[in-house]
Amino acid sequence: MILIKLGGSVITDKSAYKRFNKDIVSRLCREIKGSKKEVIIVHGAGSFGHVLAKEFELQKGHMNNGQIDAVAKVSRDVRELNGMIVSELISAGIPSVSVPTGSCFVMDDNELLINDDEVLRGYVRLGIMPVMFGDVVLDRKKGFGICSGDAVMRSLAILFEPEAVVFVSDIDGLYDRDPKVSKDAKLITDVDRDALDRIPPEMTVADVTGGVHAKMRTMLDMCSDGRDCILVNGTVDGRLEELLTGKKVICTRARK
Ligand code: IPE
Repeated sequence: MILIKLGGSVITDKSAYKRFNKDIVSRLCREIKGSKKEVIIVHGAGSFGHVLAKEFELQKGHMNNGQIDAVAKVSRDVRELNGMIVSELISAGIPSVSVPTGSCFVMDDNELLINDDEVLRGYVRLGIMPVMFGDVVLDRKKGFGICSGDAVMRSLAILFEPEAVVFVSDIDGLYDRDPKVSKDAKLITDVDRDALDRIPPEMTVADVTGGVHAKMRTMLDMCSDGRDCILVNGTVDGRLEELLTGKKVICTRARK
């Protein structure tokens, strides 16, 4: 089984509140189906989550009652996004059900707890894919918090022990400096902990769940003997399908 995260930067236009990239999502779903691989998909929130979460600092937990309305709105918005993604998956021939992170699970001081996996395993056994996503989630210590799709990926990797983990983004992989600013930024095709430590932390994009650096650290944490974690560009036609079917593609591969 391959665990895939469709990042918010590829499924939405992050610069505009609640803009869904329907064509890209529809193509990615067809590519996943075309690969004939057994997968579990998680998705990010993009502009359906980050805009309000950042404005109201939801990742810091419950600080004031001005945040309450934003909790409800972010929850509503990411469910709307999830509904559209599940629809695209079903249209592509991948039977899927929504398992909203914040409606099914809680966090404890930012750590997602999946103590009961009956629903997740039950759907997988039936050949129906449970789709979880980055969400606003109740937190036992902080009242609520933001659970990123990456944190969901970490939990699902422990539960399902996938043979590979893939993060689909809008960049070709990890660069040694910001490719949007610096023309001679070089793509790092293989990364381990030492290589990551040499990359300047300014590469981190300011959103509520971290940027490329944080993602790479998550990816390195999810590697195990024989399991690579790969960052691939989903905006390029066919690249995800090629990767899933074992072809050599432009990407960054994290290894233990
Ligand atoms: C963010 O999830 C969740 C919310 C802001 C509600 P992610 O951090 O996984 O989303 P993307 O992939 O960066 O957009």
